[in-house]
Amino acid sequence: MNCIDLILKLEAEHSLTLPEYRFLLDSRTPEDEAFAKEKAVLLRKRIYGSAVFVRGLIEVSNICKNNCFYCGIRRANAKADRYRLTADQILECADEGYSLGFRTFVLQGGEDPLFTDEVLCDIIKRIKLRYPDCAVTLSMGERSRESYAALKQAGADRYLLRHETANRAHYEKLHPKEMSFDHRMGCLQTLRELGYQVGAGFMVGSPYQTNAELAEDLKFIETFKPDMCGIGPFIPHADTPFADRPAGTVKDTCFLLSLIRLIHPPVLLPSTTALGTIHPQGRELGILAGANVVMPNLSPVSVRKKYELYDNKICTGEESAQCRGCLEARMRSVGYEIVTDRGDIKK
Ligand code: 5AD
Ligand code: FES
Repeated sequence: MNCIDLILKLEAEHSLTLPEYRFLLDSRTPEDEAFAKEKAVLLRKRIYGSAVFVRGLIEVSNICKNNCFYCGIRRANAKADRYRLTADQILECADEGYSLGFRTFVLQGGEDPLFTDEVLCDIIKRIKLRYPDCAVTLSMGERSRESYAALKQAGADRYLLRHETANRAHYEKLHPKEMSFDHRMGCLQTLRELGYQVGAGFMVGSPYQTNAELAEDLKFIETFKPDMCGIGPFIPHADTPFADRPAGTVKDTCFLLSLIRLIHPPVLLPSTTALGTIHPQGRELGILAGANVVMPNLSPVSVRKKYELYDNKICTGEESAQCRGCLEARMRSVGYEIVTDRGDIKK
């Protein structure tokens, strides 16, 4: 086996065996990474040209009943200053976002028990009534089938639920006992069955992760074929059990972005805020590796610092319009253009 042949095989067949993924991750040189990137960008350009889709991220609540070991808003973090936006505040964020050219709104939050179906359905309906040309994406964690069905019925179009890792033993090292790998994977299946455009994803460089686990993540992406795939580096948060763990790297994240583009060519692939946090040009580098989405923050500046999943998160002091302008300039600087579009996956 050699890496160039494996990258060519991936380009042609969009599939490798688990040992081949593993070999590629273990053995690739900087030249192989450059080759994968070139192939990924060619493919991305063939499908999406130089357009970059934007999603306006509204962080609706940092209250969470879960206790994931990596996450800064885990329930055991007594230092987190908790907040919850009202429906009116969320609508105001959407108003501002719409005027800035956003046509997708992502409502993201911890698993806050007060975001009941009733509350969320009301918010979704209000956004869809006011902005029928926009997509509403939810990123609100694990819920029941009935709940996902009700939210879909209310007008939600997409759902982001990172699988976090496709390896059960690894999942159990990142989460407390009461959280279930099977339940999480089941949720992704349910969301698909209900007709959502579904997003999966994982952190790069999370504690205990090796190339063996990453190979399984790639196999999962290959078989599940999510419409969206959110990947970013793990970044430690000081008030979590993983405070002293090293962060993931730009190099690994970018290589994985390229591979995911080759595995599932039309995938909507964000260049994440986490990537922008570990490198000043991280988001540009992600786009140059094959990503085609950016997700600037639309949350009120007053709460931004509080939605801290990891340390040193960027864009916590900037107004929405500033972030939008900043990203526009960043994308242009590397030859790409943010577009005013819902940004659905090209089938
Ligand atoms: N570093 C990077 N990403 C994180 N997430 C949560 N905590 C961290 C962290 N410390 C990611 C998880 C989650 C998404 C919303 O943010 O993958 O699914
Ligand atoms: Fe927020 Fe650059 S994107 S300041």
